[in-house]
Parts: sequence; structure tokens; C-alpha cells
Amino acid sequence: MARLDGRVAIVTGGARSIGAAFAKGLAAEGAKVVVADLEPADEVLGVIKQAGGEAMGAETDVTSENSCKEVVSKTVESYGRLDILVANAGLWVHLERQAPTEIDVDTWEKVMSVNVKGVWLSAKAAIPEMLKNDYGKIITVASTRAMKGGAGMLHYDASKGAVIGLTRSLAREYGPSGICANIIAPGATDTEISQSLATQTQKERRLASAKARAIKRAEEPDDLVGACIHLASPESDFMSGQTLVVDGGAIVW
Ligand SMILES: NC(=O)c1ccc[n+]([C@@H]2O[C@H](COP(=O)([O-])OP(=O)(O)OC[C@H]3O[C@@H](n4cnc5c(N)ncnc54)[C@H](O)[C@@H]3O)[C@@H](O)[C@H]2O)c1
Repeated sequence: MARLDGRVAIVTGGARSIGAAFAKGLAAEGAKVVVADLEPADEVLGVIKQAGGEAMGAETDVTSENSCKEVVSKTVESYGRLDILVANAGLWVHLERQAPTEIDVDTWEKVMSVNVKGVWLSAKAAIPEMLKNDYGKIITVASTRAMKGGAGMLHYDASKGAVIGLTRSLAREYGPSGICANIIAPGATDTEISQSLATQTQKERRLASAKARAIKRAEEPDDLVGACIHLASPESDFMSGQTLVVDGGAIVW
């Protein structure tokens, strides 16, 4: 028996990169997976189905409360329940590096809207279904930048700090109802798109961050999947409000 047999999961931002790795990993462990993304999810759905898993796509904008509610309704209509939310959708790869004095208010609000409001709205829509079963797993995705700080992405770093804060509050609020909420904090992770967009400076920065790790190589989306499955499975039923840093040992705490 696989570790997530009978479970149903929504992965936001699951059409590509880290979210796609999460969706494939959860499906391989037996979960039925709904890939909720602004973009079509055909590629990842094809991979999951070819491997014998069950999944469907749902066009979703996590910044819209209605859209978040719709994906939950669609999930329950199709698969009967909802156990796991992986609130992964986030703005990152297309963000220009800018000094704090250069970031404009519109960009700040856009980042907060997807990275913070989107996580809250996804959880807000999912929780009532989890409460019906007195069980649920909410997994959010922050970043080690929220712990380390860094140049050029103050809005992003602030948004990921907020994800940690709101997830801890979800853990306190819903722990008594059997819902665990935990955070995965990845380090800089090479994805197909980040690699294709990387400038020479960014490539050099990635090499430097690999050298700063205990495990001296680049981080890939698949490196994050084990943490996600652990936090989604009954193995972690007594764990809540925690931040799992998965960065090859760059941050040790
Ligand atoms: N790649 C990294 O180096 C890294 C490091 C630390 C944390 N993270 C976090 O991991 C998560 C995934 O990052 P990634 O590198 O895979 O990003 P990505 O940009 O490659 O993928 C993000 C996905 O989210 C979707 N999305 C964006 N806005 C959305 C919205 N409003 N509604 C629904 N879907 C939306 C996109 O369509 C895309 O499929 C993000 O939260 C990111 O901040 C990434």
C-alpha cells in the first residue's frame, strides 16, 4: 500500500517546476491530485496518468476567492473529499531584482497578492472540507530567503516571511480539529524556466549558493518531494507549525 492511498490533494501552481514535482510525487504515493494553476497542466497530468496515477487539472487563480472555492468544489465533486493542500503557487522567477528603493507599489502588491493572499485564500477554501473529516494537511512553500534575507527581492522575502507566520497561525487554529499546517522552505532551486531565463550573473550566483551548502550541488525540484510526501502523510500527524528547510544544508538550525 502506498503512503497516500485514498487521499486527495490539491497542488496550486502545479503545472510546472516545483509544483509539478510535488504533484507527481503525491500521485506516485497513491493520492488523487488536482493540479490548480493559471496555466494548463497537460504535461504533468500526462506524466501522472502514464505512470498509472489519477489526476486532473483545474484552471485556478489563487488571488481570487471564487476561483479557490471553485477548485475545492470541483475536487470534492470528482474525488469525494479533500485531505491535502499544497499551497505552492508563487511569483518568483519573473521578478526583476530591484533595490528596496526601486520596487514600485504595484509590484509589491502583486507579489503579496499571489504569495500571501493566494496562500490564505487557498487554505480558506480548503479548510471547511478538511473539517468535515477532522483531518487535513496544509503544506505551504516559503523560502530560505525569508530566514537569511538577501539583496534585490525585499517584496518576495517579506511575502515568504508572511507565509511562515500565517502557516503557524493555521497550525494553532486548526490543530484541535486534526489539521496540520507546515512549511517547506526551499533554497534556490534550479527549474527548467529559471535555467532558461538565467543571466550570467544569476548562473554565477547559483554556483556560489551550491558551494555554500553542506551538500555541494545545485538544488532541483525533486529534492523537495520527500519533504512534501512526509508532511502530507500520516507519518507527520504529530507535526504542525514547523518549517522544514530543504536546501542541502546551507542553513543549519
Ligand atoms: N525555484 C526556486 O528557487 C524557489 C526557491 C524557494 C522557494 N520557491 C517557491 O516555490 C514555489 C514554486 O516556485 P517555482 O520555482 O516552481 O515557480 P514557477 O514560477 O516555475 O512556477 C509557479 C507556478 O505557479 C503558477 N501561478 C502563478 N501565479 C498563480 C496564480 N495566481 N494562481 C495559480 N497559479 C499561479 C504558475 O503558472 C506556475 O505554474 C513558489 O512559491 C516559490 O516562491 C522557489
